[in-house]
This record gives sequence, C-alpha cells and structure tokens, in this order.
Amino acid sequence: MKITTIKYVRNKCNTFFWTIYNKIRLRYFWKIEIGKDSSFNGILCIWKNSKSQITIGNGCMFISNANTRNLVGINRKCILNTQRPGSKIIIGNNTGLSGTVISSAISVEIGNNVKCGANTQIMDSDWHPEDPRSGTPKSIIIHNNVWLGLNVVVLKGVTIGENTVIGANSVVTKSIPANVLAAGNPCKVIKPLNIENR
Ligand SMILES: CC(C)(COP(=O)(O)OP(=O)(O)OC[C@H]1O[C@@H](n2cnc3c(N)ncnc32)[C@H](O)[C@@H]1OP(=O)(O)O)[C@@H](O)C(=O)NCCC(=O)NCCS
Repeated sequence: MKITTIKYVRNKCNTFFWTIYNKIRLRYFWKIEIGKDSSFNGILCIWKNSKSQITIGNGCMFISNANTRNLVGINRKCILNTQRPGSKIIIGNNTGLSGTVISSAISVEIGNNVKCGANTQIMDSDWHPEDPRSGTPKSIIIHNNVWLGLNVVVLKGVTIGENTVIGANSVVTKSIPANVLAAGNPCKVIKPLNIENR
C-alpha cells in the first residue's frame, strides 16, 4: 500500500475517533450545542463557565493535531474558553479552525465559511482583570467568508467584514471593513478585494 494511502486512512480513522470522543464530551459534559456534521481531529480543549454559552454550527472542522491534516504547521490544540457568566462564543456553519484559540469574556461571534488559519488567536479581553493596565473587554464579530492567515491575532472590540482576508502574522487591533485585504501590525487595509478581477 502507498504511504499516501496509509496516511489518508490514518487521518480518516483519527477524525472518526476524535469526532465521536469530542462530541460526547462537549454535548454531555460541557453542554455545548454542536451541529451534526461538525468534525474534530485531536482533542478540543474547553473551559466553559457553567452560565455561559458556546454554540458550534454544522460542518465545522477543528484541527488540534500537529501530525495530521493541516500541513501548514499547527503547533497547538484548539481551545475555546468562556470566562464569565453570560460570556458567549458562537461559531457559524462550515467554519474551519486549526490550532485556533478563542477566549470570550463578553462575546465572540464567528460567521459561516470562515477560515481560521493555523495558530490563530481571537480574544475579546486582555485577561488579568485585576491588573489596571488591562483594557475593558469588548465583543468581537468576524463575518461570513473571512479568511484569517496563519498566526493572526484578533483583539478586543474588532469587527471584520464579509469576505475580507487578513494576512499572515497580522495583529488586528481595530475593525476592518468587508471585501478588503488587510495585514500588518497593527493590521491596516492594503487594497480592496475584487475577486473577479484577480
Ligand atoms: C493575505 C495574502 C493571502 C495576500 O496575498 P496576495 O493577494 O497575493 O497579496 P500580495 O502578495 O500581492 O500582497 C499585497 C500587499 O500586501 C502586503 N502583504 C501581504 N501579506 C502581508 C502580511 N501578512 N503582512 C504584511 N503585509 C502583507 C504585501 O507586501 C503587498 O504590499 P505592497 O502592495 O506594498 O507590495 C497573503 O499575503 C498571505 O498572508 N498568505 C498567507 C495565507 C495563509 O496564512 N495561509 C495558510 C493558513 S490558512
């Protein structure tokens, strides 16, 4: 048997096993709503405040396993964390997360068909609420069809408009409109995206 066939079968088996395991944990232990066609490769780490909400849509894929699937180089597991009563994480349909960390003190909403590249980080607070140097937590909204390149960090109060692409390694500190390419630290609009003319 070819090495590629062996890897393909191993990967399918991994996803099958991890999907069953994660769905049982998340639904029955953590009380998280998950759409029926969502799948997992590797363990999804969760810390959910019992009075908070995490919802995952249909057809999402969580990759938390450095050895399989995503060859860009995932260096950690996906983590979802709601810090307080009333915190929310809502993930739409067909959204992919690869070693992505999402933490919510208020609300993080991610739309449909969003690509969260390897090792992306989305957090609506600065953590350390006891430290006066931390700012005030503010909600994050990432609209449909956004693509976050690898290692992108999205900070509190940011909205990213539909179809926008955020370049690799960017730190998004302010909202970015729809249909643009934006990149850098701090992330700025580089050009409008007219996909038909590319
Ligand atoms: C965002 C991206 C897709 C844009 O690609 P593109 O449309 O071919 O864009 P270009 O290479 O023509 O770059 C356009 C401009 O943006 C700048 N730019 C692109 N990506 C950038 C980044 N990550 N950080 C800073 N500037 C960036 C370029 O330097 C260029 O600037 P210039 O106009 O002054 O010369 C690409 O740059 C990128 O980040 N790719 C990585 C995607 C990724 O992470 N994939 C794997 C995980 S899913």
